Amino acid sequence: MTIVINMRDGLDERKIKVASRLILEGKLVAFPTETVYGLGADALNERAVRRIFEAKGRPADNPLIIHIASLDDLGKVAREVPEKAKILAERFWPGPLTLVLPKRDEVPLVTTGGLDTVAVRMPAHPIALALIRASTPLAAPSANISGKPSPTSAEHVIDDFYGKIEGIIDGGETWIGVESAVIDLTEEPPFLLRPGGIPLEEIEKVIGPVKVHPAVKGKNADLAKAPGMKYKHYAPNASVVVVEGTPENRRRKIRELVYEYRKKGYRVGVMATFEVEADEFYFLGQTPEEVARNLFKALRELDKRGVDMIIAEGIEEKGVGLAVMNRLRKAAGYNIVKA
Ligand code: TXA
Ligand code: MG
Repeated sequence: MTIVINMRDGLDERKIKVASRLILEGKLVAFPTETVYGLGADALNERAVRRIFEAKGRPADNPLIIHIASLDDLGKVAREVPEKAKILAERFWPGPLTLVLPKRDEVPLVTTGGLDTVAVRMPAHPIALALIRASTPLAAPSANISGKPSPTSAEHVIDDFYGKIEGIIDGGETWIGVESAVIDLTEEPPFLLRPGGIPLEEIEKVIGPVKVHPAVKGKNADLAKAPGMKYKHYAPNASVVVVEGTPENRRRKIRELVYEYRKKGYRVGVMATFEVEADEFYFLGQTPEEVARNLFKALRELDKRGVDMIIAEGIEEKGVGLAVMNRLRKAAGYNIVKA
């Protein structure tokens, strides 16, 4: 049985108590963060963590992020915190940045996918923080079935997990919309494994040059170091094509493609930053932040409207745009049209 705990009107400590009790019993509770919804369990409870992998259909070697609510918690999971990690935590926590650090023995290998490093972040959502404070550090991947677009509302989580997990906290829509940036600080220079809510430019401003994993920008499954990178990701049921280029060229190309695919008999959906006539259309907004917020919702929504083909507009890889393009290219299985 799944209980849906409504906190759309804000934090409710009495309801947090109900959810934290489930967590401490080893149950699974999905909760909102500022990025996407997480599927949470007690990070130190091996059996509970194992159930996350089962529920998501997630390969066992794809490690989870541990969510903490205080710097004290950091010492419970990380064996060592290098200077640059301290600087990043100080500057960006709570927020959409995940630090990969040497793990303490108390953290089960199930949680870290067999690695002796652990990924940690302090989320900036009041509901997430309250739940962690009332229970324990939470292992939580994005609360989607493995391979599907990440969830930015409780409705998305209900679509994927109703009946399969014990609790879902409905805290309304998340406001960043793409997941946290993941940076490995066990290496020097630090290694960006996944671009995310905190832009690379911001990170480099405080710790200097960062090495960027090749898979951040392009297809590079073989080199995958963040184990999550080698799997199919963010994919809706429809086929996706991403159109990249200058804004004018994108406009022209997208209109051309709509015409061509429709002629072939496809039901075509478009997600873009300008109005396009198609069978279905989803407006992504205009700023990179708006596009990030709408990205996963657009993919899920166009799927629900039953299109066969999604034409998605690419944006510039600046700021959070780097994270957007990383997700979009994966969603498209690297089916990219250069305009
Ligand atoms: O914003 C987020 O990060 C969301 C919310 C719920 O916090 N969580 C999230 O988790 O996106 P997930 O499991 O979908 O993605 C975690 C990423 C994966 O790419 C995984 O491979 C990487 O972090 N990761 C986790 N632990 C790692 C480790 N020890 N070393 C390298 N990469 C790691
Ligand atoms: Mg995920």
